[in-house]
Amino acid sequence: MITIDLSGCKSFEHKGSLYIDKAIEALDVLDNATGIGNDFIGWNHLPSHMDSQLLDDCQKIAADWAASNINLVVVIGIGGSYLGAKAAISALSHSFALNMGTEAMQVVFAGNNLSEDYSAELFDLMQVKNVATIVISKSGTTTEPAVAFRLVKQFIEEKYGISEAAKRIVTITDKARGALKNLADAKEYKSFVIEDSIGGRYSVLTPVGLLPIAAAGFDLHSIMAGAREIEAICSQRTKDNPAVLYAAARNLLYDEGKKIELLVNYNPKLMYFAEWWKQLFGESEGKDSKGLFPASVSNTTDLHSMGQYIQEGERILFETVINIQNASRNVVIPSDKDNLDGLNYLAGKRVEFCNSKAMLATILAHIDGGVPQIVVETECLDLFHLGGLFYFFEKACGISGYMLGINPFNQPGVEAYKKNMFALLGKPGYEDLASKLEKRF
Ligand code: PA5
Repeated sequence: MITIDLSGCKSFEHKGSLYIDKAIEALDVLDNATGIGNDFIGWNHLPSHMDSQLLDDCQKIAADWAASNINLVVVIGIGGSYLGAKAAISALSHSFALNMGTEAMQVVFAGNNLSEDYSAELFDLMQVKNVATIVISKSGTTTEPAVAFRLVKQFIEEKYGISEAAKRIVTITDKARGALKNLADAKEYKSFVIEDSIGGRYSVLTPVGLLPIAAAGFDLHSIMAGAREIEAICSQRTKDNPAVLYAAARNLLYDEGKKIELLVNYNPKLMYFAEWWKQLFGESEGKDSKGLFPASVSNTTDLHSMGQYIQEGERILFETVINIQNASRNVVIPSDKDNLDGLNYLAGKRVEFCNSKAMLATILAHIDGGVPQIVVETECLDLFHLGGLFYFFEKACGISGYMLGINPFNQPGVEAYKKNMFALLGKPGYEDLASKLEKRF
């Protein structure tokens, strides 16, 4: 279950019902597929329409790799082709698994930058590991993953031989188009299709997210069960629908002049979830000179860096706090007979008790400082609830984008840098642009 607490958002008391009505209208547009961009809403009913064979296929690849003693999976992709998987694996994994040496399978990410140091260090890691790779690109032509895949493919082919390499490479791409599709066909790699109707940032519950999550050892059926539960809740045309409430509140705050939405977590495992959320909302809403700027903080860590600005800086912010109600583990603060640190007043209390009080204290302080608070609550951070959170934010984003009057499913602005980069890299066909750009240096 996901619930929305808007008691920290004062203006919602007076104006909320108007925005709830608008959000329900936007929900209708989304669910009836009558809005702009409606050819990209294949994600909307994905959990309830998911073919469980697909989940089993992903789990089988993961099991086969584990049985072959593969202990490193390099997931190659950028933007929506990696952030969901990275968010899920970070949220679900032991924070110190690497240092403990207990992790049988390591999943790392590449192709999300063009840093040469990063590439070289990836080679260092691959030298000492037994490697497989998943390469993900919907267009099949994105430069960053294409460069990384060429490097990793060649490494795998040289280390294990061409025919063994084909067992260690899985592609996830368009069903018909793109260089990656051509390459996968030519080399007969195992492949999964990204449906035309699902954009990158809405693809975490497709093989794009699911195969890497399975490779990391997690059960896909639980994550989809959680998403299914929230899909049913978020399709209800009621004022209790959490996606409706969240979309309504953030649009109200935007109309009142707030420019920045900070996603706040109180568990460092959610730092990459925030990166996924930033892409989801930033790329969906930031267009036509509109849209909240999505940013994030991880507390209580960032209360000691960004806390001052949030409390007293320019009043252009509101916060959306993810409240995970129950910690998964139990650590109690011990009593100390000397009490030299003066902490015996906390003896016998759980660390999570301190965390929850810090959250409450911060919410109240920030309300007093003029930073409205939306609180998104869920029971715990496991596969089931994480699946629900992914779907909830996707649905809310679709509703919110329609309320804002933009197409939440395209990303025309991403092309500008790509064209310039192709020109400056000397890609054939970009000669005119290259000479124009060079004159500007
Ligand atoms: O959400 C999106 O559509 C983008 O972030 C893409 O996922 C990203 O640009 C990578 O594109 P591709 O998967 O085509 O390589």
